[in-house]
Amino acid sequence: MDDFVRVSVTVNGRKFTRAVSPRLSAADFVRHELGLTGTHVGCEHGVCGACTIVVDGSVTRGCLMFAAQLAGSEVETIEGASESGRVAELQAAFVERNALQCGFCTPGMILTAAEFVGRHQESNRAEIREALSGNICRCTGYEAIVDAVENVLKAKR
Ligand code: FES
Ligand code: FES
Repeated sequence: MDDFVRVSVTVNGRKFTRAVSPRLSAADFVRHELGLTGTHVGCEHGVCGACTIVVDGSVTRGCLMFAAQLAGSEVETIEGASESGRVAELQAAFVERNALQCGFCTPGMILTAAEFVGRHQESNRAEIREALSGNICRCTGYEAIVDAVENVLKAKR
């Protein structure tokens, strides 16, 4: 067992304890150890945002953290955010505006957008685009995504 570290972490409100490789990323941990495959893995270099998770309330790139660093943390993945209803308005707005095509970027995009929407009552398109600039989408050209986030902010007012 010398090559493994024991990690206890709360994910989507449930506590898990696993023995993991010290080199396992947080993104691979939630996907492969916990079966939460809504967290996607793209670049594995902190560039694309597909691996976005929320760690102790902060939007985080799961590929840039080791699973061992999650010990004692509260983690939320897209599955938890969906089940709790926290991102329901954004999900509905994305569907309504057709703000996704292949969907690979969408979980990370939604979690990042939720953090932004939670901190703003209103915003302009440039600020929304800037807030989402760490999440890369190969399909949509971003217009519909910005529209969807803008619509959620408008509905809040
Ligand atoms: S897979 Fe983590 S930022 Fe691309
Ligand atoms: S919808 Fe395909 S990468 Fe964004």
